[in-house]
Amino acid sequence: MHDSTFFQTVIEEELKKLSFPSAPVELYEPVSYMLAMTGKRLRPSLVLMAVEVFGGDYQKAIFPALGIEVFHNFTLLHDDIMDKAPLRRSKETVHKKWNADIAILSGDAMFVKASELMLRVDDAIARNVLTLFYRTATEVCEGQQLDMNYEKRDSVSIDEYISMISLKTASLLACSLKTGALVAGTTEMNAELVYDFGKNIGIAFQLHDDMLDVYGDEQKFGKLTGGDIIANKKTFLLLKALETAEGNNLKQLKKWLSMKEFDSQEKIEAMKEVFSSLNIRDHSEEKTEIFFQQAMYSLDKIDVPEENK
Ligand code: IPE
Ligand code: IPE
Ligand code: MG
Ligand code: MG
Ligand code: MG
Repeated sequence: MHDSTFFQTVIEEELKKLSFPSAPVELYEPVSYMLAMTGKRLRPSLVLMAVEVFGGDYQKAIFPALGIEVFHNFTLLHDDIMDKAPLRRSKETVHKKWNADIAILSGDAMFVKASELMLRVDDAIARNVLTLFYRTATEVCEGQQLDMNYEKRDSVSIDEYISMISLKTASLLACSLKTGALVAGTTEMNAELVYDFGKNIGIAFQLHDDMLDVYGDEQKFGKLTGGDIIANKKTFLLLKALETAEGNNLKQLKKWLSMKEFDSQEKIEAMKEVFSSLNIRDHSEEKTEIFFQQAMYSLDKIDVPEENK
């Protein structure tokens, strides 16, 4: 069995082999630009790992693994427009380097490419792989819409937030693992369990990403921090703060959330001060751990030799 570094290298090499037409250059250059930025390659690595966990040959899943990474990169292109993000993987985002129209259309071309790659599996499983992929893609759109709706809403419950991140982020991690399970041809029960594992790991992953958006080291994170605070994103951090704040803390939160014109740095500092006096980072890390443990519970029940896990 191979480790995550091995799979990351495989994906990196295989991504380089993907070819795109040379014209129109405005359409394809941003695609190459995006795919050449090294991300963690987490989702395609999960596809390949899942194949091996269930006793299959990872090489049979290279194309769908690439499909999921191309799809993920497409969602990042469009997400950066929605979030007005200037930086991605420590580089300028596509909508900043070019413009939003270019980022929309290049993203669309990537979605089509992703779909073609997903189809490149054995005929016997192609329908199942694509059905799962399309369901997941729809869920990502639903989650992204809820994420934007919640920016504007005053009151969002923590359960609503968890459902939203389950759609926008966790679905794709779950889909990656289940795609590997389908390629390996394991039992339906195992495929469902690895899907549940992915869902819970995915929720923990987005909780952690939201925490890093406030407390991350920009060099390592590769994204500008504080963006979620500026946009009034209803992250667990903010929702927990709203739930527990009283007196001046609550007044501060409400003031900054309703302010239309402000100095970004000042807002970030003020919100961080409230978070810190309410120990919000600890609450967030505890919540992340709960979903991580939930994931381990599903992993436990998967019927494969322990050493594969
Ligand atoms: C970013 O995903 C989007 C989120 C779901 C938080 P990653 O953190 O996996 O980004 P890359 O692919 O490694 O850049
Ligand atoms: C977006 O979540 C997840 C996607 C479906 C792209 P974020 O908006 O938090 O992702 P980052 O922080 O920009 O990577
Ligand atoms: Mg977003
Ligand atoms: Mg974003
Ligand atoms: Mg984020």
